[in-house]
Amino acid sequence: MKNALVVYYSRTGHSRLIARETARKLKADLDEIKTHVRYKGFIGFYRACLHAITKKEPVIEYNRYPGKYDLVIIVGPNWGSRMASPIQTYLSKHKLGNKKIGAICVQGSSGGEKIIALMEKKIRRKMIHLIINQRDIKDKSYVHRINEFLKKVK
Ligand SMILES: Cc1cc2nc3c(=O)[nH]c(=O)nc-3n(C[C@H](O)[C@H](O)[C@H](O)COP(=O)(O)O)c2cc1C
Repeated sequence: MKNALVVYYSRTGHSRLIARETARKLKADLDEIKTHVRYKGFIGFYRACLHAITKKEPVIEYNRYPGKYDLVIIVGPNWGSRMASPIQTYLSKHKLGNKKIGAICVQGSSGGEKIIALMEKKIRRKMIHLIINQRDIKDKSYVHRINEFLKKVK
């Protein structure tokens, strides 16, 4: 599909894997959301918990402006039943309500449906979505699940 963007944030690499596979299959542009806030490591994990609970929206950087795309797919990890804080910033910065939007939530095992509901509330529209659990990555079923998701998105 032309004119599609896959944008992601990843703390430990799972969402990056999923975003890359999605963009490759869709022949979409790929963009990473970055932040200078340190979420890596042991202390970073607790900072991520705190920021998820307090709804903090860290300053972020990325390269591509989503406004020029027809389809935007957002990929990010579940942090305490909310999308990771850098994704929250992204959603606050960009009113994506007039676009076709897809969301992929990457998580350990639970809370994804709640996240999708919160995202839909925030952008005020329904989204085609996919929830990937860590076991889907382990057994490689994510590849098939992304294919099925993309049939709905295209
Ligand atoms: C602060 C924090 C909170 C998390 N909360 C949840 C959770 O509520 N449910 C869940 O299934 N996984 C949770 N996880 C696990 C991540 O969603 C999971 O490890 C995901 O694959 C990480 O993706 P990434 O490698 O792209 O960062 C949490 C991780 C962090 C860092």
